[in-house]
Amino acid sequence: MRISVIGCGYLGAVHAACMAKLGHEVVGIDVDDRKIAELSAARAPFYEPGLEELLKEVQETGRLSFTSDISAAQGSAVHFICVGTPQKKGENAADMTFVDAAAQSLLPFLSAGDVVVGKSTVPVGSAARLSELIKTAEPDVEMLWNPEFLREGHAVSDTLQPDRFVYGVSGASEDHRAVRVLDEVYATPLASGTARLVTDLPTAELVKAAANSFLATKISFINAMAEVCEAAGADVTLLADAIGIDDRIGRKFLNAGIGFGGGCLPKDIRAFMARAGELGADQALTFLREVDAINMRRRTRVVELTRELCDGSLMGKRITVLGAAFKPDSDDVRDSPALSIAAQLQLQGAVVTVTDPEALSNAARRFPDLHYEKSTEVALQRADALLLLTEWREYRELDPYDVAALVTTPKILDGRNVLDATKWRSAGWAYRGLGRP
Ligand code: UDX
Repeated sequence: MRISVIGCGYLGAVHAACMAKLGHEVVGIDVDDRKIAELSAARAPFYEPGLEELLKEVQETGRLSFTSDISAAQGSAVHFICVGTPQKKGENAADMTFVDAAAQSLLPFLSAGDVVVGKSTVPVGSAARLSELIKTAEPDVEMLWNPEFLREGHAVSDTLQPDRFVYGVSGASEDHRAVRVLDEVYATPLASGTARLVTDLPTAELVKAAANSFLATKISFINAMAEVCEAAGADVTLLADAIGIDDRIGRKFLNAGIGFGGGCLPKDIRAFMARAGELGADQALTFLREVDAINMRRRTRVVELTRELCDGSLMGKRITVLGAAFKPDSDDVRDSPALSIAAQLQLQGAVVTVTDPEALSNAARRFPDLHYEKSTEVALQRADALLLLTEWREYRELDPYDVAALVTTPKILDGRNVLDATKWRSAGWAYRGLGRP
């Protein structure tokens, strides 16, 4: 099947490559010429494990191309909209500029029988609005909302083997023509048993908002427990293990630490609250305000604990921050708690060095005043305190004896509770976890 993918960011670039891997003929379209040049040369414009190998593999088959010319969408049977919906400046609401522009630019190139598939995370009601817009240009084009649940760092496998597909179509009908078309696109994962649910358009949009809100709530719940554990001298990691055994609760997403960041959870819960407010249902989501507040409080807490670790004063203290990305296996620093903490420490007089295996150039673009060091070993030298803020494997595997030989004072704050406290303490370290005694 011939497919166009509009938007080649974290979502679209991976989606385009994966659709080609499934055997389709795919054109990826983006307004950013630099991104198109990189992708055309089979280079991933961002760090995502497995993506570059996949781009090389599928481009050799001739089934995948990239262009900044939207007219290349003409002739595709399916058009995926994969552009971003960032948070509006100074507001909670989602900025729909890119989605609206993508839909508008597509209109002249739609033909009768085409299906437009929205994958971007949008405020509920957008799909119906876009569907009307599309039908004014070509009445025989169908709109389907197919939210994306991929996680950065696992984007390729999450796209090729998702745990479910949600198809939103008007009337929530299994017999909808767009459902049959998308079944053909996803024939391979569907054949291997991936669940598929057909809903109406607003339900499909809400599934995504609800899923991300639930995940964010789970993280803030355990971080709230971490606050109580700290006050009571209890251990939140053991608490999470114990409650997580109950499969109604589950252990996943109960890792207490510096909180959630990234391009999705923080802005999606805020956009959801804003949209619910527009719909007159703001009271239903007031708990998300608390979820957001607990999350932001983690960052301040880490700054306080670092001050404690540094004997009450940050002034002139050399602090090494391990990790800049919002999570490991990603170079994404959007709303990264690690960088926000590093910036606050610097503001309060610490001499901060940030290191990360992949995210330093993105970090330097967002926080140009921080000091960055690519080499972990150099970054560790002469530190007064270490902060492990993104749990990359190389940091989890650091040897406390080797590191002790590099730093000035063996003090570490484990912002993700991933180190073996006993091992670090017995190597002479002052170890501090979050929500742990
Ligand atoms: C998230 C959703 O998981 C995904 O389904 C959706 O499509 C997009 O948003 P992503 O932003 O890639 O994916 O990262 P995720 O793995 O969900 O982590 C989000 C943040 O939560 C990270 O900063 C991570 O460090 C943090 N986190 C996660 C915790 O602090 N504790 C946990 O237990 C889990």
